[in-house]
Amino acid sequence: MQTQTSDSEYLTVALPKGKLFGLSADLFQKIGYTAEGLSDKSRKLIITNEEKKIRFIVSKTADVPTYVEYGAADIGVIGKDVLMESQKDVYELLDLGFGKCHLMMAVHRPDKRPSLMDYAHTRVATKFPHIAEQFFNEHGMQMEYIKLNGSIELGPIVGLSESIVDIVETGTTLRENDLEEIAYIMDATARLIANRVSFKLKFDRIHQMVEDLRQVLESEEQ
Ligand code: PRP
Repeated sequence: MQTQTSDSEYLTVALPKGKLFGLSADLFQKIGYTAEGLSDKSRKLIITNEEKKIRFIVSKTADVPTYVEYGAADIGVIGKDVLMESQKDVYELLDLGFGKCHLMMAVHRPDKRPSLMDYAHTRVATKFPHIAEQFFNEHGMQMEYIKLNGSIELGPIVGLSESIVDIVETGTTLRENDLEEIAYIMDATARLIANRVSFKLKFDRIHQMVEDLRQVLESEEQ
């Protein structure tokens, strides 16, 4: 694929709107990557720090890997779950540790079947059809995948599907909707990713940034 890296003078960082935004922006601030007015609520989508030659793009979470793969952003922050689902060809540079959650399969408790295999050939609602398919293939299960974009938990409750594959953070959404996890799939945390060409062309800057971020993360672990 042909990628075009962003303006060579600037380092362009794509941040996801939503749950990971605040923690990502805080982390960059700690290494001096600040930008006045950086907010996921702002209608301004590109925020530049002219002095440091840093540009932040604020994008829909699922689009971060796309901006990075095409080189519209050099760097991005994205959950491992969304990154895997995107199947984009980018470098994964660092596990940022925050945004911890796990992917799992859950079913409506009143309709729970005795074993996982009893769900073969049923419908599964998910935002993560690729990850779900890989999981069910590993179990030799053929499924029908129904792609949803949010509120996945509704699926089994309203009879759209027999199960869901989704992320769990605190477990509150499952509990409040009488759903039960029946299979664990994978853990996920926020990752720092880079465009493959940018990583070579802007190696010194990106390498320094990764080292600075690593130091902050290590000091916070202690
Ligand atoms: C995610 C996920 C679950 C919920 C899990 O949804 O899809 O619905 O968070 O979190 P919990 O275990 O802490 O309850 P998100 O808030 O991203 O919104 P969405 O429904 O639009 O996907």
